[in-house]
Amino acid sequence: MSRTVTVHASGTYEVRIGRGLLADAGKEIRAVCGGSAACVVTDDRVGPLYADGVERSLAAAGYRVERFTIPNGEASKTPENVLALVRFLAQKGLTRSDAVVALGGGVVGDLAGFAAATYRRGLGFVQLPTSLLAAVDSSVGGKTAVDLPEGKNLWGAFYQPKLVLCDCDTLATLDPAVLRDGCAEVVKYGVIRDAALFELLRDPAAAASEEVIERCVSIKRDLVELDERDEGPRKLLNLGHTVGHAVELLSGYTVTHGSAVAIGMAVVAKAAAKRGLLDAAEAEKIVTLLRTYGLPTETSYPAESLARAMAGDKKRSGSSIDLIVPRRIGDCAIVPTAVTELEALVRDGL
Ligand SMILES: NC(=O)c1ccc[n+]([C@@H]2O[C@H](COP(=O)([O-])OP(=O)(O)OC[C@H]3O[C@@H](n4cnc5c(N)ncnc54)[C@H](O)[C@@H]3O)[C@@H](O)[C@H]2O)c1
Repeated sequence: MSRTVTVHASGTYEVRIGRGLLADAGKEIRAVCGGSAACVVTDDRVGPLYADGVERSLAAAGYRVERFTIPNGEASKTPENVLALVRFLAQKGLTRSDAVVALGGGVVGDLAGFAAATYRRGLGFVQLPTSLLAAVDSSVGGKTAVDLPEGKNLWGAFYQPKLVLCDCDTLATLDPAVLRDGCAEVVKYGVIRDAALFELLRDPAAAASEEVIERCVSIKRDLVELDERDEGPRKLLNLGHTVGHAVELLSGYTVTHGSAVAIGMAVVAKAAAKRGLLDAAEAEKIVTLLRTYGLPTETSYPAESLARAMAGDKKRSGSSIDLIVPRRIGDCAIVPTAVTELEALVRDGL
């Protein structure tokens, strides 16, 4: 039995969450994409674990199957790899009616999605997320991109998948540190939109459960349906990210994304409590839950450096930046904040 969340965006598609879904992926992909060839895009960690099974199922569904593998990790999310991938698709003769199948975490999904959006001006695209972050966040909503030397995710497109199959069995092979990073994003959903989810997460075993993934995907679906192009409420998903990006940058990216977001959520929650916007006990609950997952909640970078790094954030518009501030667990506000205010605000949260 799988759970299904249907997303109505510029395309309508299902996100299916369950166990053993990869074994039937071929049939499901054929039902939504058709075509005669499918290219599985994966990385050199996930591929050896799961690509053979997916390819068998694609072949059984009548597809000619190709595989394109990138080295695992963020360093692979490059324009060079997009070019290599689209040239591979051309060399293998994929047409607009064929399919690109992303099998992996957010790096594979973002890169494969961007290639699928632009190769022949768009061909069928399916996400098979295998990390918790990809399951609850990056595989849903249609943001695709690669990094430039000038910044992360600067070259991309909105391109919705035709199907997302989240096979929770794959989460069992995740490195604990990668799983922990995903947990930060799961906690984020509880804080921005779902107090009951937040309560569920007090049991750490729940974080990667089908029920929790479904709740997170439903929240993302709701925000994407309200604001597909990230101009309004979808920004709530950035809770903890502006401070988090500053921490990542100052650390030279040695602090992982999930850890940085956890620090960001804690700093913003504490600052909100100090300013009377959030009950202090609620802020403490957020910090405590993050710690339950082994996530950091403090940083030794001074407020001045953090504020300077935040002012350079790509989400800045003019002299202000939209910060996501919790008012209660399960309810956050988008607060346009003057760049000149950032240092004082961060200081309140340190
Ligand atoms: N498109 C979006 O809306 C969106 C949202 C959030 C994040 N992102 C992007 O997602 C990326 C991060 O995603 P991520 O955390 O999944 O990183 P990732 O894709 O690098 O995966 C993390 C590591 O886990 C490994 N891995 C993945 N699944 C595995 C499995 N089942 N078993 C064993 N190992 C496995 C990968 O090989 C990699 O080494 C970033 O590039 C970020 O910008 C995109």
